[in-house]
Amino acid sequence: TVQGDGRDGAPPNGSAQQLPQTIIIGVRKGGTRALLEMLSLHPDVAAAENEVHFFDWEEHYSQGLGWYRGQMPFSSPQQLTVEKTPAYFTSPKVPERVHSMNPGIRLLLILRDPSERVLSDYTQVFYNHVQKRKPYPSIEEFLVRDGRLNVGYKALNRSLYHVHLHNWLRFFPLRRIHIVDGDRLIRDPFPEIQKVERFLKLSPQINASNFYFNKTKGFYCLRDSGRDRCLHESKGRAHPRVDPRLLSKLHEYFHEPNKKFFELVGRTFDWH
Ligand code: A3P
Repeated sequence: TVQGDGRDGAPPNGSAQQLPQTIIIGVRKGGTRALLEMLSLHPDVAAAENEVHFFDWEEHYSQGLGWYRGQMPFSSPQQLTVEKTPAYFTSPKVPERVHSMNPGIRLLLILRDPSERVLSDYTQVFYNHVQKRKPYPSIEEFLVRDGRLNVGYKALNRSLYHVHLHNWLRFFPLRRIHIVDGDRLIRDPFPEIQKVERFLKLSPQINASNFYFNKTKGFYCLRDSGRDRCLHESKGRAHPRVDPRLLSKLHEYFHEPNKKFFELVGRTFDWH
């Protein structure tokens, strides 16, 4: 269940706010909201509604764990509390801070094809500008510099998964980090969610019938006690069309980093 922070009402009987026992650490545009919502179908999961940005924003971190706990939903003792802040994954100071809160914490990381993630990242910032009625350059203007792929474009760096995961592996063993295949979560969410249930040692309570494909949205939506709901319209947006030659340059750019990532995790993914 996704719950509020309880500030607008009295907490339900016997419930309390708890520090998260699991965190969705990223990646930005990997499908972090979908993962959180799907996991929330489980009765023993209590999810924070908003991105908390505790470990990456100094003005939050300096307020300490008491503040952090205060951002969490009220939950009963058997429930696991979860929050998602996608920026954690790529923020170098975060792993040590999470470790010092709880070295045994279970982490969830949802990744998708690195090139696709770049296009999604661009699309998100593009729409943020559109909303504020501000102009925003085309994706080519970010991706190309002097006729070559502009490796200085920040969105590219966020897709260098091996670089960022490396920082986490200095503090956590790989078995504490469950990687969700974000491309599979889009195509067929239930098996991916079952794996997450097992990783978190939750009883198997989420069912195939909790998911149905919505043709209008073009994505899976959720069915929970007879209630149907899809993710917000900002999730699952069309990406800009990119010249195929530029797209192959992008795929080429990620080829070696992806290989390094596969070696690091001992597992391959179906990426370009
Ligand atoms: P796009 O909008 O680029 O397609 P995040 O929540 O981390 O920002 O990730 C957003 C991405 O979640 C979307 O990116 C979309 O592809 C993906 N996603 C996965 N499952 C989804 C679902 N059931 N409904 C909508 N979007 C989903």
